[in-house]
Amino acid sequence: MKLPIAILALTTPALAFTPSPRISTPTSSLNAVSKKDTYQITLLPGDGIGPEIMSSCKDVLGALQKRCGFTLEMKEALIGGVAIDEAGDPFPDESLEQCLKSDSVLLSCIGGYKVNYNTLPYIAALLPLPIYSLINIHTLICYMIVQWDSNPRELRPETGLLKMRKSMGLFANLRPAKVLSQLIDASTLKREVVEGVDVMVVRELTGDVYFGTPKGIDVVDGKRVGYNNMIYDETEIERIARVAGDVASKRGGKLCSVDKANVLDVSQLWRDVVTDVITKDFPDVELSHMYVDNAAMQLIRWPKQFDTMVTGNIFGDILSDEASMLVGSLGMLPSASIGESGPGVFEPCHGSAPDIAGQDKANPLALILSAAMMLRYDLDRAEEADILEKAVEAVLDQGLRTADIKQEGDGCKLVGCIEMGKAVADIVATIDMEVKV
Ligand code: IPM
Ligand code: MG
Repeated sequence: MKLPIAILALTTPALAFTPSPRISTPTSSLNAVSKKDTYQITLLPGDGIGPEIMSSCKDVLGALQKRCGFTLEMKEALIGGVAIDEAGDPFPDESLEQCLKSDSVLLSCIGGYKVNYNTLPYIAALLPLPIYSLINIHTLICYMIVQWDSNPRELRPETGLLKMRKSMGLFANLRPAKVLSQLIDASTLKREVVEGVDVMVVRELTGDVYFGTPKGIDVVDGKRVGYNNMIYDETEIERIARVAGDVASKRGGKLCSVDKANVLDVSQLWRDVVTDVITKDFPDVELSHMYVDNAAMQLIRWPKQFDTMVTGNIFGDILSDEASMLVGSLGMLPSASIGESGPGVFEPCHGSAPDIAGQDKANPLALILSAAMMLRYDLDRAEEADILEKAVEAVLDQGLRTADIKQEGDGCKLVGCIEMGKAVADIVATIDMEVKV
């Protein structure tokens, strides 16, 4: 995965700290902080497998710093279910402040459920009582499992993620799906369909039906009515079109804008504005348009026709999950969320996998690749990013596989999260690559 764009972040909002200078060039809508010796990084381990993949990633970043002679000062903050439990807010103000004063933010994943082991002694004490039939035991076990999903919306983990995106102005989400030759057989699609696929989905992240108002559930004429508003203004479309034009011009030069302009007015505006921006500002980019239903089909039918795709928040949410499965496992995919200024947030595309949390089964590679994107796009450390990306390919070449990418009879070694992280860290320490200091 090599996306030769630079990321723009002008300055962070006024806070009690000195913001790092950020580089911008007239040709790029995206830019990084200037290269320096020490960076402040906020880590958001989140929920489920989040803390364990973060711990593996920290080992890898530790090896990288040692090798390359720079420092990442890493400090954790709360987001998601753990933030609801500990601070009563899925993205507390302290977390926001800490993120804003960092050079960059690395996030694992949020949400799902967790087992509350504190309830275990009470349940064990009740179990011998004769009234506890099988049904009651089931109820008790359900009680042990904390389901944030049943909370009111403002106390759900996803609300924390949306609050973070909006309050940090992260309007552009870059989700690359590049098929690695080592993992072709992990895809559910045929080898000839996925071999060589390298798609970048540029998703608008702070508008659309996700944030549009009015919204709610009301009672009208005695019936409940639920509604959201799919809305974009032209400046929101212009700025994401510019990011997509920039990304496409530095990749294969092809941009496909996805909408539903045959039905939706908001999509007609989307199409008009994207066309204006790309034809005026990126004349070398070959622009095409596709309806979202067709795009969903074409991604599975012949994904190699796509280079860069740009779309709104909800279509991008759906299409980026679909694109990720071309690659074989969500466990391999990084993403970058960036704004016009301030730090970006780098996170894997996968969820918190609560069913395997705490069992040393998770795949840390998507988070490690997200750290590579952070180095490349937010910290002006492209060579260090190359090392991480090469190290990930090298562990796959060595035949190490976590459960999500292991195929029956592939002759590879099944490893856990810790062993995978250590293997990447070892390669980072020893891999034969030049880094200019
Ligand atoms: C994603 C996720 C989020 C989204 C959820 C968890 C709010 O699906 O990042 O793609 O819908 O944007
Ligand atoms: Mg999603």
